[in-house]
Amino acid sequence: MNKLMQEHRKRFGDFEVIEFVEPTEIERLRAQLDVDAPLTLHWTWEYGQEVEELRNLYEKGKVNQWNAERDLEWSIPVTNDDWVMNPEASMLAQICKMMGKDEATQKAAAFDELNHLLSQLLHGEQAALQICGQLTNACPTMDEKWYAASQVTDEARHIEALSKFLHRKMGTIYPIGPTLKILLDELLRAETARKKTLGMQTLFEGMAVGIFDLLRGESRNALLTEMIRRIEQDESRHAAFGVLTMRRAVREADASEKAEMEDWAFEILEALNANQQIDMLQILGPKYGIDPLNLTQATLVLPNWAELNSMPYMHTVIPNPPSRSTASSACSTASRGSRRRPHSRTAERARADGASADRRIVRYLALFSAQQSPTAREQRWPEDALAIDWAEPWERSSSLS
Ligand SMILES: [Fe+2]
Ligand SMILES: [Fe+2]
Repeated sequence: MNKLMQEHRKRFGDFEVIEFVEPTEIERLRAQLDVDAPLTLHWTWEYGQEVEELRNLYEKGKVNQWNAERDLEWSIPVTNDDWVMNPEASMLAQICKMMGKDEATQKAAAFDELNHLLSQLLHGEQAALQICGQLTNACPTMDEKWYAASQVTDEARHIEALSKFLHRKMGTIYPIGPTLKILLDELLRAETARKKTLGMQTLFEGMAVGIFDLLRGESRNALLTEMIRRIEQDESRHAAFGVLTMRRAVREADASEKAEMEDWAFEILEALNANQQIDMLQILGPKYGIDPLNLTQATLVLPNWAELNSMPYMHTVIPNPPSRSTASSACSTASRGSRRRPHSRTAERARADGASADRRIVRYLALFSAQQSPTAREQRWPEDALAIDWAEPWERSSSLS
């Protein structure tokens, strides 16, 4: 497997982190506003319904439209004098507490960390908007085009909501992290609709649902909670499109195409995981006397690191939590010190297996190859990757209201 960003890797024990140290290089990446994104536009003369499940998703999207200006209570204050999130949800706040800093500093650190995370989500929303526009062109069937077009509207609304929240309530939009910029460009440059669907609709949308779910569970602010709830409801449809589309794509792909998709998806997720919040820590760590690499090294050797680190991936791996009533607590990817509980039976079982983040990624990728050629699958995936519960199809998820 090819590893992305080789020149930025550094080994800490068994784990390879990605770290960008050169400010001019980071600036150069951010300044690359034009991306050469090859795209084959596809006409279709079939205007009837071809993919029923996507038509249903499109109908759900029509019913669940909302207005970011009108439907959110923007008068609710958000300040760093209060805990916007539960204190345990912020890695920086927890570290500040351990360093003996006062509560005001802990609150400010938590606020900054949330500000940075929401900024990265905002940049991700812009990538989603651009990719959906591409999909509207590239998808072969009219049902896919209808669906992708409806998602373009959703993503524009998410950009509107998040950018207004950051402007009006937090005061800052942090620039995109270099690792995220490279990965999003990789998705935008993907040459086929299938690869774009796999990369953005499945990997990133799945992660987004997970992160939004975790944030909502830890929020103490009614405006933030409601904004995230509404965005998450849309994102669940988007991730559903990815899963439903990739299930069909995998059925149609031959062994080499499957292997290529798997390798590419793994490369993306492995690189995303390898950054380990270092891009955020390089911006915010010095403000609170925290050395980014020292903290990263310290967290990598925590006895429960694999469990904590894998939480965002668990949402991706298991896209259909059986009941929101059992959902809880865990917070952002940044919050390794927070209290966390898995939110589904399958998550509990996977956690009990003690699988590492890498193995959970493998489980996730197995989503696409399960129910396909058992022989090839068994050769490719370790035994525990086959233990996924397929009983509850994504489209029946309670999150798809
Ligand atoms: Fe979105
Ligand atoms: Fe989305």
